[in-house]
Amino acid sequence: MPGDGIGKTVLPEAIRVLEAAGFEADYVEGDIGWEFWCKEGNPLPERTIKLLEEHKVGLFGAITSKPKEEAFNELSPGLKEKGLVYSSPIVGLRQHFNLDICMRPCHTYKGNPLNFIRRGKENSVEEPEVDVVIFRQNTEGLYGGVEWSNPDDKVYDALMTHPKFVKNFGSVPRNELSVSTRIFTKKATERILRAAFAHAAKYGYKSVTLCEKPNVIRETSGMMYKMAKEIQQEYAGIALWNTNIDAQMMWLTKNPEDYGVIVAGNMFGDIVSDGFAGLIGGLGFACSANMGDEVAVFEPTHGSAPKYADYDVSIVNPIAMIESACMMLDHLGENDKAIKIREAIAEVVAEGKVRTYDMMKMAGRPDVIEKGAASTQQMADAIIEKLK
Ligand code: NAI
Ligand code: MG
Repeated sequence: MPGDGIGKTVLPEAIRVLEAAGFEADYVEGDIGWEFWCKEGNPLPERTIKLLEEHKVGLFGAITSKPKEEAFNELSPGLKEKGLVYSSPIVGLRQHFNLDICMRPCHTYKGNPLNFIRRGKENSVEEPEVDVVIFRQNTEGLYGGVEWSNPDDKVYDALMTHPKFVKNFGSVPRNELSVSTRIFTKKATERILRAAFAHAAKYGYKSVTLCEKPNVIRETSGMMYKMAKEIQQEYAGIALWNTNIDAQMMWLTKNPEDYGVIVAGNMFGDIVSDGFAGLIGGLGFACSANMGDEVAVFEPTHGSAPKYADYDVSIVNPIAMIESACMMLDHLGENDKAIKIREAIAEVVAEGKVRTYDMMKMAGRPDVIEKGAASTQQMADAIIEKLK
């Protein structure tokens, strides 16, 4: 499922690398994204759901999402009358297949100039070694979509009579009220916690850090902390650390080397994983897996980066997509090939001869495109060369 924008550029490169590593597979292309919203009024066509039901494993590039009104305006003639409302197809996929476990590994690539620059330690000789895996609950919490503006009678009455609401806010007119809920279920919370501990045990991490805010968000974060303590009892060699998300963002910039497995609810997991991604080179390196009981979808953390999508020669970094494909190999029991590819990537980065623009010093300054930056294809070629 290449999707939109740079998803279309990086996914074929990952497939070339998979083939070079000797992974044998048939690829079936799934339609998803903006194009299908505009043409069909549905960015996640039923046929794509069917494909995943049948094949169980997906590689996904990225999609474009736009605000409600803009999305509506881009619908093809004849579709506007149907009153369709756009919703993100990747969020839709996660919900449809209950891909409730999101796994985001972040590890340092030795020799990546960004290791120093991003930490303000450009002239340091000591290279930080980050090796963390973030487990983010992927379907609930603040992104669960249960929210209201100008709420109906039932919700409004429930709020107006809630003792905490009365105490903290008094009475608020209905039309001045917006509410987004943060829903945690025991079932999903237990699943993400267990996935985190199991991963720590399997790969020898010494700690699992629960990154929430239980002292303030007592019911949801509090429940998660209580459950984490119970589950930790089953893992004698693994420590449970409990940090607050705000402090965690400070700690990870100061001493990211200290952390192993991190587990969090949906939003805090989203935030903390972007924080760690920044330390290892940014979105060009951040990979992820969305896993359910039946189906798993592997995707780079980045989006469709529209401003880079229409270059004659594509310049974005394919490593995030290729690393996501490695996670797929792990999932399929082809770990040996994943290791080979990861070693090839590490070599290319360490040599420093082939670097996409984002790996260069001025990356992030939109007015500067570095001279000598490699294209997306050249980066994939360099990795493939190492696999030979
Ligand atoms: P984005 O991740 O697409 O791009 C942000 C910036 O990160 C880019 O402008 C670029 O500077 C950098 N970047 C991203 N991927 C890169 C790569 N592979 N190599 C080098 N640099 C890279 O996020 P943005 O701009 O907020 O969103 C663009 C569109 O993507 C929106 O429509 C958004 O809704 C969608 N999106 C989709 C996601 C998904 O499909 N899972 C996730 C995030 C955003
Ligand atoms: Mg994010």
